[in-house]
Amino acid sequence: MIAITINGKQREVAADPDMPLLWVIRDLLGLTGTKFGCGVAQCGACTVHLNGEAVRSCVTKVSRAAGQQVTTIEGLSELNDHPLQIAWAEFDVPQCGYCQSGQLMSAAVLLRENPNPTDQDIDDAMSGNICRCGTYPRIRSAIHKAAELQREGAKS
Ligand code: FES
Ligand code: FES
Repeated sequence: MIAITINGKQREVAADPDMPLLWVIRDLLGLTGTKFGCGVAQCGACTVHLNGEAVRSCVTKVSRAAGQQVTTIEGLSELNDHPLQIAWAEFDVPQCGYCQSGQLMSAAVLLRENPNPTDQDIDDAMSGNICRCGTYPRIRSAIHKAAELQREGAKS
């Protein structure tokens, strides 16, 4: 058995240590918000946080997450009220939606590290997350808005 803390809850999974974390998250734990895209670390659809850092769960062995903290899109906020989620709704960012949980998880790390990102900062930080629907302009606008909401929240 492998113990992982996922979205704040301790879970034990009967998984081969080499199993990709993505398989564990989706198939063993039933958290299907994280998506399988390419399976080879090229698209970002499977992005989750491992101890607060964005990782590609399709190429991360579950053994690497043993005893660690994993956050998926389901755990980004308790009430879907992370500034990014509020901004995403305001800008109606998703089209098909498939890439969006990965986009949000990458953007959350960006905002934590850089509360006032420029367009270039956003493009650099988000370059590993591919969107086949081309929602990039809305993603960028929503990240600027979320940064603004986060800064306002920090002041109040
Ligand atoms: S599914 Fe992991 S990066 Fe594409
Ligand atoms: S919204 Fe369709 S792939 Fe990004």
